[in-house]
Amino acid sequence: MSASEVKKGLAGVVADVTAISKVNPESNSLLYRGYPVQELAATQPFEAVAYLLWHGELPTAAQLADFERLERAQRALAPSTVAVLETMPPDAHPMDIVRTAVSQLGTLDDTLHEPGGWTDPQLDLDRSALLFAQLPTIIAAVQRRRRGLAPIPPRADLDYSRNFLWMTFGELPSDAAVDVFRVSLVLYAEHSFNASTFTARVIASTTSDLYSAVVGAIGALKGPLHGGANEAVMHIFEEVGTAANVVPWLDRALAEKRKIMGFGHRVYKHGDSRVPTMHAALEVLLDESGRTDLAALYAALESEFVARKGIYPNLDYPSGPAYHLLGFDTEIFTPLFVAARVTGWTAHIMEQAAANALIRPLSAYSGVDERHVPGL
Ligand code: ACO
Repeated sequence: MSASEVKKGLAGVVADVTAISKVNPESNSLLYRGYPVQELAATQPFEAVAYLLWHGELPTAAQLADFERLERAQRALAPSTVAVLETMPPDAHPMDIVRTAVSQLGTLDDTLHEPGGWTDPQLDLDRSALLFAQLPTIIAAVQRRRRGLAPIPPRADLDYSRNFLWMTFGELPSDAAVDVFRVSLVLYAEHSFNASTFTARVIASTTSDLYSAVVGAIGALKGPLHGGANEAVMHIFEEVGTAANVVPWLDRALAEKRKIMGFGHRVYKHGDSRVPTMHAALEVLLDESGRTDLAALYAALESEFVARKGIYPNLDYPSGPAYHLLGFDTEIFTPLFVAARVTGWTAHIMEQAAANALIRPLSAYSGVDERHVPGL
């Protein structure tokens, strides 16, 4: 194979089939199990979207009630998980803490030791539900610890989104703000063979266990070219400061050939299908907070960058400021993405396991020609 045949970054390579989601950059659409993501964001609790991604169908009322009961019953962390969280430096990056906590959850799962237990489909579904239920508790505790605050126990009378916000802040925002959070989770849940999902599938393809695959996916998501962009967007807003500063700031940044975080996408070249929905959600928070300065900065950076480069915002562009207005620390934004995307990751891990082939591509060699150790 010659170097010219290489698809750098696997761009344009179709690596496998999936029935979980369909990204169509031509029609600017994203379907989860056939449903447009905008329709799911408008109507479904996040619990129902998780169920859909795993089972292929939206739950009936009875199935949703069962799943909600299971989720609520599993939220509390084991004392050893709490202890692991408390051992880590409070100023460590939350993505590193969350990654470590998921790894620790794997050590608590005795079923991994059962014969065939590593990849048993029913056990993987149970593990997916456990991660879904416990990640908010972990992330909320990490956020509070960064502020020197004790964790708040989960509340079984609250749904997933409300409980997540309650455990983080000890109070609930308006219903409209809760809904913005729910919408962001639905939009972040799944996006076909993105870098972190592909990482999870590579790990699953070795018949490793689900926790290991999720830990690897978290590592991939952390990078600013992928999920870390929602954190990086907020740093850019802080750096630019005001709408009036956008033009000189962008002149400098582009002269330095900087990537502007929150813009561009490997698949969507004419705009990210999720952005209009998330932008509308962000506007609810901008109106509620009266942050006309942030609204002006957001609009000015978007219009100036699009006009100059023809590169459009991705989902991280509106979700970063939305998480900021909800009150999260900037470093917590990507862990929120983890809480959402764990649904898609685990759906893909199970799909990979169900029709597995070891993922092991080839490489074209570009090193020195064969040579020999002197003296032989
Ligand atoms: N800022 C400035 N220039 C950009 C940006 C950007 N955000 N995105 C793309 N470009 C430019 C590149 O510099 C490159 O220019 P060149 O051809 O003159 O060298 C050209 O557009 C193509 O960019 P690539 O990075 O090669 O395209 P790719 O498809 O690999 O990039 C990516 C996709 C990595 C997302 C890129 O757009 C980027 O780095 N964006 C910023 C990070 C970001 O927001 N990531 C979030 C992705 S979405 C998500 O995870 C929810």
